Amino acid sequence: MSVLNKFVVTVLPVIPKAVVGQVAKRYIAGVTLQDAVRVVQELNQKGMMATMDLLGEDVTQVSEATAVKDNIVAIFRAIRDNSIGSNVSVKPTQLGLKIDSEICYQNIRAIVEQARSQSNFVRIDMEDASTTEQTLDIYRRLRKDGYTNLGVVVQAYLHRSEADVTALVKEGANVRLCKGIYDESPAIAFKDRRQIRDNFLKLLRFLLEGGSYVGIATHDDFLIDGAMELIGKLGVKPTQYEFQMLLGVRENRRDQIVQAGHRLRVYVPYGEQWYAYSTRRLKENPHMAWYITKAIFVR
Ligand code: FDA
Repeated sequence: MSVLNKFVVTVLPVIPKAVVGQVAKRYIAGVTLQDAVRVVQELNQKGMMATMDLLGEDVTQVSEATAVKDNIVAIFRAIRDNSIGSNVSVKPTQLGLKIDSEICYQNIRAIVEQARSQSNFVRIDMEDASTTEQTLDIYRRLRKDGYTNLGVVVQAYLHRSEADVTALVKEGANVRLCKGIYDESPAIAFKDRRQIRDNFLKLLRFLLEGGSYVGIATHDDFLIDGAMELIGKLGVKPTQYEFQMLLGVRENRRDQIVQAGHRLRVYVPYGEQWYAYSTRRLKENPHMAWYITKAIFVR
């Protein structure tokens, strides 16, 4: 990270929300469900699928978790009514995981049930490592209850992920593989960029060889190229995987992947809780200092 970017990360909390909003526009579909539907329609026209995400996490009130569940059920209705190509990603802590895992389970179950009634799919995002075990438990309980229209996420930076992938492959899981975004302790996570990349490709090989459906979620050329090489070498069918990217990130590379005939899904976040998500994206963005400067000076 450049010195200027480090500086911007430090001062980000005091940069006016309006400036962050202007820069962050590219990463979020908007505030309302209608905004998100419109963005998904545009992506669909370009031959891309979507996964819609109602922003928010760490809910502390049961009533809030219930409201989030109702809003996510409404996303599925909007997908059906507008005939758009999208599934939905959910975060356990927005559905009550930190309050009570049973409440979270019931909320996710209601969402998965709605999705199943319209032949759609729910991806359970993976949050910080304090939630990994409970998230996998909820996923497995739903599978045991007969639901097959859901999948989980594995983070390549976690030491435990190799064992998780080994088990998930045996269970025939649908897995999104990503590097992982939370700041985890070196006791449980790789911190070195090369180690994370190596583990990503190792886990991807296990998943593809084991026959799992994989969402390859990365913007990293090294991993995209490595994945394509692996797919070619193993002769994996195009229906066994998809690339996944976040809205607003590396759009040129995204278009190239689609043009090369691979399936690609864009993660489309929206909602009133856009600020926390946007600052996280900005901290990752190597060009962030430039964007912020531009937003301040170019009106
Ligand atoms: P890396 O961060 O090295 O980025 C590679 C390149 O992409 C950068 O060099 C830059 O050029 C570009 N880039 C990356 N971010 C950018 C930005 N914000 N703006 C502009 N350019 C940017 N994590 C998690 O812990 N749990 C989860 O459930 C998910 N879910 C998820 C879904 C999807 C669809 C994606 C793409 C990612 C996630 N993630 C996630 C986040 C993931 O773990 C990871 O933090 C980010 O994808 C960044 O890692 P990359 O592999 O893209 O590499």
